[in-house]
Amino acid sequence: MADKKAYLKIDGSDESLELPIYEGTIGPDVIDVRSLTAQGKFTYDPGFVSTAACDSKITYIDGGKGVLLHRGYPIEQLADKSDFLEVSFLLLHGELPTKEEKEEFVKTIGSHTMVNEQLASFFKGFRRDAHPMAVMCGVVGALSAFYHDSLDITNAKHREIAAHRLIAKMPTLAAMVYKYNIGQPFMYPRNDLSYSENFLHMMFNTPCEQKPISPVLANAMDKVFLLHADHEQNASTSTVRMAGSTGANPFACIAAGIAALWGPAHGGANEAVLKMLAEIGDESRIDEFMAKAKDKSDPFRLMGFGHRVYKSYDPRAVVMKKCCDEVLLELGLQDDPMLKMAMKLEKIALEDEYFKARGLYPNVDFYSGIILKAIGIPTELFTVIFATGRTPGWIAHWNEMIGGDYRIARPRQLYTGHAKRDYPG
Ligand code: CMC
Repeated sequence: MADKKAYLKIDGSDESLELPIYEGTIGPDVIDVRSLTAQGKFTYDPGFVSTAACDSKITYIDGGKGVLLHRGYPIEQLADKSDFLEVSFLLLHGELPTKEEKEEFVKTIGSHTMVNEQLASFFKGFRRDAHPMAVMCGVVGALSAFYHDSLDITNAKHREIAAHRLIAKMPTLAAMVYKYNIGQPFMYPRNDLSYSENFLHMMFNTPCEQKPISPVLANAMDKVFLLHADHEQNASTSTVRMAGSTGANPFACIAAGIAALWGPAHGGANEAVLKMLAEIGDESRIDEFMAKAKDKSDPFRLMGFGHRVYKSYDPRAVVMKKCCDEVLLELGLQDDPMLKMAMKLEKIALEDEYFKARGLYPNVDFYSGIILKAIGIPTELFTVIFATGRTPGWIAHWNEMIGGDYRIARPRQLYTGHAKRDYPG
């Protein structure tokens, strides 16, 4: 029972409607508006700016204070002391693993890294120059064809196996997307390597040459995955939940999430940052692009700046910036002109009144794009990397929903079209 209540009075009515208010552990209270339908009224909130679509125990964000917690643990501490697979376990199970649980989890993920050989045939249907996210949507969706009849989503064990398969196979598929694009043979995963080392191995090694993986780059890759692991009800996670609410196959739901992630306002921003830097081209043109970003008649936005939720520094960006400095130092790229320009742009935007007044700070994608470029990952693959990192979050949300009480997600609308009219003649 909710102790607090909100009262809604509608013009023309003497009675006010009592609406329960629920308190979360932390964060804003929510007003339960479900009874409005019985009054013939809906709420109106395009973009879900003020709407909580579910309750969740996975991730908490305080955008004003720059706080991000996974199962209560601050992202800075996880980035410092944990790793991607441990955070994946945490998101899925709610607690950090014991030493034995962690070893078991790493082994289990390792046992699922290969994809069915048949899946390689799917790639041949794509043009070699297709956008990697288009191919990723297709091949992840295709996984549902391999694991459908054997998967009962009402069975918690089946859901767990689906989660393991997804976390394990995403880097394999991401690397296959890259190899297909450049015309090199697919590399099989190596389970003697860590998750991130294995990913870099499948990306950059070939059957004829297997170079050792730099620990600094593997660590940076792990941080990129970890910092993207979950972000509560963002557009792609909400898409996964929405698709999942129909009882659809989880691999197909994740493919839907990948489609939602692709856009430049969401996961596509890291790719857009690099394209923007290339377009700016030289430090001398930064002012011109800053003016464009502030001009309301110009659709241009400074990519990698601003966030729907964070109106102060994105806590992930702080960690990413530190990691970015380490990677640039390791690779001797501190003097790379494009990276120097990015740092200058960041400084100018941080001091700019327009950006300060609107709480527009560099987000995680500003730095992740720079790190990924430095590691040698092609720009068009950046969002595929984001998708790989976000997979444990997507599947943890899907699992939380399917394992609890849920209804099919079915928003309503304010209809502004024609009233009923007769077909002419
Ligand atoms: N450059 C210039 N102006 C901006 C920018 C930007 N990047 N972002 C927001 N604004 C302005 C916007 O014009 C508006 O100004 P005004 O109040 O004068 O009309 C104000 O700031 C608020 O913007 P909004 O569009 O109402 O904010 P939103 O919450 O709907 O959009 C956003 C959030 C992330 C889509 C937007 O900031 C943006 O387009 N940023 C660039 C793309 C980007 O970096 N996206 C990655 C987000 S982080 C990764 C992820 O979570 O997927």
